[in-house]
Amino acid sequence: MKIMVLNGPNLNLLGVREPGIYGAGSYADLIAMLQQYAAEQGIELDCRQTNHEGVLVDWIQEAMGKFDGIVINPGAYTHTSIALLDAVKAVRVPTVEVHISDVDARESFRQISYIGMACVHTIKGHGLQGYVEGIQFLQKYPGN
Ligand code: DQA
Repeated sequence: MKIMVLNGPNLNLLGVREPGIYGAGSYADLIAMLQQYAAEQGIELDCRQTNHEGVLVDWIQEAMGKFDGIVINPGAYTHTSIALLDAVKAVRVPTVEVHISDVDARESFRQISYIGMACVHTIKGHGLQGYVEGIQFLQKYPGN
């Protein structure tokens, strides 16, 4: 099983960025934790981070026909990007949206998710563990 794990803008700054909201773990810590889980489960993970919306669109398109699922934290593009919504709709790769923080309990502008309208599942407010839960959801997803 092959899963693409995508992180959007500012998630490279995990651990430094607003630790009261996003926690003390770094991006490297996150990837190490996910790769360890994947190795135990015999899953192949391809983890990528970018600050650029179009690069996320390119990577979602790249997953088409090659990956069994996508776990994505689009960062702030969650709340603005119809291009990401359209990309997920286009490729028909089951996609789980993950947010480290509980976006529903924050500012009202974080309560809209465009990409979420095309995702098979959304996990919010479970910290870095939410990414593992996203992978677990895809492991159980019909067809996988
Ligand atoms: C986030 C929540 C977004 O509102 C924010 O812009 C982020 C991170 C989260 O993981 O909680 O960059 O997606």
